[in-house]
Amino acid sequence: MTYMTRLLTGTVAALALALPAAATEYRVAVGDGAGGTQEALGLAFIAALEEQSGGEMTGKLFLNGQLGDEQDTVTAAATGTLDFSILAINNITPFSPSVGTLTLPYVILSQDDAEAITQGEVGQQMIDQTIEDAGVRIIGWGYSGFRVLTNSKKPVSTVEDLQGLVVRVPKNEIMIETYKSWGINPTPMAWGETFAALQQKVVDGQDNPYMTNYAMKFDEVQKYITDLHYIFSIEPLIVSESLFESMSEEEQQQVLAAGKAATQASAEFLRTEEAKIREELVNRGMEITQPANDEQEFIELATSAVWPKFYDQIGGKEVLDNVLTSLGREPA
Ligand code: MLT
Repeated sequence: MTYMTRLLTGTVAALALALPAAATEYRVAVGDGAGGTQEALGLAFIAALEEQSGGEMTGKLFLNGQLGDEQDTVTAAATGTLDFSILAINNITPFSPSVGTLTLPYVILSQDDAEAITQGEVGQQMIDQTIEDAGVRIIGWGYSGFRVLTNSKKPVSTVEDLQGLVVRVPKNEIMIETYKSWGINPTPMAWGETFAALQQKVVDGQDNPYMTNYAMKFDEVQKYITDLHYIFSIEPLIVSESLFESMSEEEQQQVLAAGKAATQASAEFLRTEEAKIREELVNRGMEITQPANDEQEFIELATSAVWPKFYDQIGGKEVLDNVLTSLGREPA
């Protein structure tokens, strides 16, 4: 039983006893396995939804992509065949390019940055834009931490060390271009195929946060970790907009309040759990390498080559500048 499951089981079980027989049970797709941010966010959401609705509404998590690959769940929710989904932000970007600002390399530099952006004005603009572009509404934000690079072959500290490695990336243009800026041609691949591809050595490596690498048991098929900080992974909780629109105003408020509570629980979960999970991966035999020279080479190559390429797609350079200045940084 995972930490979050233990933490929440009491609440969920207590409320479950009180659920009316006719409680509406929503299906919540989860891309990752048990033990990571996505499950924690989902459990916290369900507990809060039951509490908010006095047991009238509940949810059931389907882990490990049982309801479809992450990008497919966006389409399913948009067409109303799926209720809720929890997925990595990079898998929403193809449907709502403005959200891509949050996957541009080295824009979000800390958990505080991630929380400030998603819970502030910029986050609200992205929520509105995603409804329009993708037909889904972001009602909560999970925080997973930085995507670290893993591989099965060798310690990687410099851009030069990276050369020759076959690295899986999500089907996300920004991430593909980032690896190209580092001199390699990555392999875009759906999330659900990644474990098998690593196991069968179709690819040598991939990147994902510590929490996700742990939840997906990547330590069984990967040896080396490079502590990169190029993307801080945010995991939105989305609801089908057509489902949301079909709810009464009271239900909508309950869903939104539950999403807010889950967001807070996720932030706390990352703060308390990430260091322990990092240590656990080391105990299981993984080796962590720091990027040389404070990651400067990775940072300079990625920001200079990738940012300008995506200005148009994210809605203009001013969209990135707005994010940077709202974080107290210089415009691009
Ligand atoms: C991906 O690499 O496709 C995603 O980050 C996976 C995830 O949702 O954890």
